Amino acid sequence: MANNLFATKPLSLLLEEMKGENRLRRILGPVQLTSLGVGCIIGTGIFVLTGIAAHDKVGPALTLSFIIAGLACVLAALCYAEFASMVPVAGSAYTYAYATLGELFAWIIGWDLILEYTVASATVAHGWSHYFQDFIGIFGMKLPHAFTNAPFDFNPATGQLIGTGTLFDLPAIIIAGIVTFILVKGIQESATVNTAMVVTKVAIVLFVIVVGAFYIDPKNWSPFAPYGYTGLSFFGKTLLGQTGAGGEPLGVLAGSAIIFFAYIGFDSVSTHAEEAKNPQRDVPIGIMASLIICTVLYVAVSAVLTGMVPYDKINIDAPVSDAFRQVGLPWAQFLISLGALAGITSVLLVLMLSQPRVFLAMARDGLVPESIFGAVHEKFRTPWKSTILTGIAVAVLGAFIPLRVLAELVNIGTLLAFVIVCAAVLIMRKKQPDAARPFRCPMVPTVPILGIAMCLLLMFSLPAENWFRLIGWLGLGFVIYFAYGRHHSVLARRRANSAEPRAPRGAAAPS
Ligand code: ALA
Repeated sequence: MANNLFATKPLSLLLEEMKGENRLRRILGPVQLTSLGVGCIIGTGIFVLTGIAAHDKVGPALTLSFIIAGLACVLAALCYAEFASMVPVAGSAYTYAYATLGELFAWIIGWDLILEYTVASATVAHGWSHYFQDFIGIFGMKLPHAFTNAPFDFNPATGQLIGTGTLFDLPAIIIAGIVTFILVKGIQESATVNTAMVVTKVAIVLFVIVVGAFYIDPKNWSPFAPYGYTGLSFFGKTLLGQTGAGGEPLGVLAGSAIIFFAYIGFDSVSTHAEEAKNPQRDVPIGIMASLIICTVLYVAVSAVLTGMVPYDKINIDAPVSDAFRQVGLPWAQFLISLGALAGITSVLLVLMLSQPRVFLAMARDGLVPESIFGAVHEKFRTPWKSTILTGIAVAVLGAFIPLRVLAELVNIGTLLAFVIVCAAVLIMRKKQPDAARPFRCPMVPTVPILGIAMCLLLMFSLPAENWFRLIGWLGLGFVIYFAYGRHHSVLARRRANSAEPRAPRGAAAPS
């Protein structure tokens, strides 16, 4: 049985499965993949979390936080790109882990990716709600207070959870519903809508950088790092740097750990490998290009933002548009809110597009029920049932759980996924040194080892409770795997019946 837990899915089998009928359409080129990547990357992180990070954790040294988090992502991205080019099927890190580390690790990572995609979507839906409220506020409109936010939040001044006096976040529910509808209709439409929104978003970010640069007062950059340059703790015990009232680490590294959220999404390009026209070449291009574009934009935006407004006056709900209001440009606030809304919508679109594709890969392997998660709509060719389920989960989480609690949980889960992907590159190079690698991660083993080290560093710069939430989530995952997945695994049954091989899932079924 232990053998089955660590049984790996052969690369040849993965590629054979791709020939089946129940596949997604191959319509995405390198520009569309990069656009999907940028679409998924620039959103709530830069438009909302920069406020929380600069105000509560870092100050003007936020630029350094972005560089450090960007570096961790580049290292992980190089590893992702190698795998994406080797195993160009839907499923992302889940599929790579199945081919290298075995079924149990694949399950862990697939389960962990739910944190990355579904919980991140809920975080992003919250961010959308902040800018929606900022936007209607420009016209003097206001939602009833009960529908403006999650019913509780974390107060960094006291380190306690506090009631917000609201019932739930209504705009977060509405945007989750709209995006679910678009996605069930199909990826062709989704990619078109996405491209339009990405163009708007990048234009607005450039506007913020260019116009905002005229309003920088260099005095605002001093002190540069009021909370210090580090911020590291081990399960609640501070190892390096200052600590906040709630015991959470503060400083540049602690800032990196929270704004890491701003980079999440580049790996979603790899979940679309199955829809790429030429995945071996285009997926690595899409991942690296989108990451580099976003890093440059982020560093510039954070320099401008912290130069325009003293860090302790930065608004934590809609920091970018509010900075322009503070320097006396209300018309720019209008433009930026609108751009942020479009931008954040496109992030939600790609994240919510990615989750059902990971489920689809898991369902084909029998680890989650295929009747639900493997169902592809006859007409739209989309995984419609799991898209709707994802939409419901996003709406519920977005409505009731506060933004920073969601964001930190997403970060720790995603960082864990990156650690596993970096480790898997090292293992695969040993186990299958001769497998075709159209894209090779440079400087192996240095790059994967540094990637693992940096992701762990950021994980330990997050408040300790995130570790406990992550462990709880993984524990629940184990229960589900041992109660369901292990018994339904296609690979395990295939191995048991090796004398009588079955047709792979997704292969043409006899009519
Ligand atoms: N990186 C994405 C965002 O910032 C998830 O919204």
